[in-house]
Amino acid sequence: MSTDADLTSQAKSILRRNTRGEYTVPTNGLYPFQWNWDSMFVALGWAEFDEEMAWTEIEKLFDAQWASGMVPHIVFWTEESSYFPGPDVWSTGRVPPTSGISQPPVAASVVRRIADSQPDRAARLLPHLERWHRWWYEFRGVRELGVATITHPWESGRDNLPDWDLPLSVVDASGVGRYERRDTDLVDASMRPHDHEYDRYLALVQFGVANEWSDKECANSPFRVADPAITAILLRAETDLAFLIDAAGVDYEHLDSTCMTSAPISDRIKRLQDGYEQFWSTDASAYCSFDPRTGNHALAGTSASLLAPYAGIDSRLSEVVALLQRWRGQTGFVVPSFEPAAAEFEADRYWRGPIWLVVNYVIAEGLASCDAVDSAEMIRQSSLDLVRTSGFYESFNPLDGAGVGGADFSWTAAIWLRWINSPYVGRT
Ligand code: GLC
Repeated sequence: MSTDADLTSQAKSILRRNTRGEYTVPTNGLYPFQWNWDSMFVALGWAEFDEEMAWTEIEKLFDAQWASGMVPHIVFWTEESSYFPGPDVWSTGRVPPTSGISQPPVAASVVRRIADSQPDRAARLLPHLERWHRWWYEFRGVRELGVATITHPWESGRDNLPDWDLPLSVVDASGVGRYERRDTDLVDASMRPHDHEYDRYLALVQFGVANEWSDKECANSPFRVADPAITAILLRAETDLAFLIDAAGVDYEHLDSTCMTSAPISDRIKRLQDGYEQFWSTDASAYCSFDPRTGNHALAGTSASLLAPYAGIDSRLSEVVALLQRWRGQTGFVVPSFEPAAAEFEADRYWRGPIWLVVNYVIAEGLASCDAVDSAEMIRQSSLDLVRTSGFYESFNPLDGAGVGGADFSWTAAIWLRWINSPYVGRT
């Protein structure tokens, strides 16, 4: 049985082993490149014992930012055959090669967490963060709807959540052609998405390629869903960015002259705050994703249903806490990625049930900042127990705590380091 001190040294060696110079891969083999939100959570872990690497990790991601402001979900810094779909399939024509979609914008919130250690480096990132947030505003629904939309399940970071089943089912995958998956060579197929989902993931990539990854065209992807997790994460990131701009004493108007036609940060924040209630589903008694084309909500709650407090929205705090407590009574560990009582719940299959420590981290941060500290602590303790039970897996079965997916996972190690060293969660 490992002690907490053993686990802490294992977590550090996982990060060291998964480093490829200036960035850290999520895990060896299965994910051999730089992933957007993985890297930002990993920076939080690095900050616990190697501040220099934390800043380098963040800066490296922004080296791959597109001129439009988009920060891609994967940066292919090297060539590797163990991953599909690689740069040739994405065909974005960028240097460095990248995917053509984004991922949850946690960067500004991570920068705020560590800004005091190197304020100059934080200040240099501000224009990049501002440009990325404006890109979400313009091209991912915020200006139009007051909520953030995704154009591919992978953009959500929660790849095969049951919420995406229905909107994905109408995507035409008849022209996808033959291809060979690599993920199921490395992880048991029973834990990974089905082939029919993969066909549609690729059809959406091909849609981007056919439209030369134009932001305007891609915003109208055949798959378009309003996501409460991205919206909460973006709203928190916008308020953290506003705080950083203030703290740095920079003149907002001169932060970035490249696209000042967009709305200022205060308007963007207000738009998101006003829009969030659209996620509330009276049928599910939870915040749920919805299809902006039909207005229909997904049928059941997900771990994202607990993220409103993270965005500073506490008008339904008691309902959020009640949902968490109900799940606590139904599963051995929290927080399951999907409603455990629903027919689509699968304890071992990717985002259809398993627990992800990075999601636990943002949920707990939010609850603590809204004074629901007991609930936040319950999540933190359950997360640490998962690592004590099974080690540093990609995710965990919520019923028995067994590890799911890849082993020696960077972001799981990072959250352990963050939470074992800094038990206090909440806004600083
Ligand atoms: C999977 C996850 C995604 C993550 C990536 C690398 O695709 O769904 O959230 O960023 O793996 O860990």
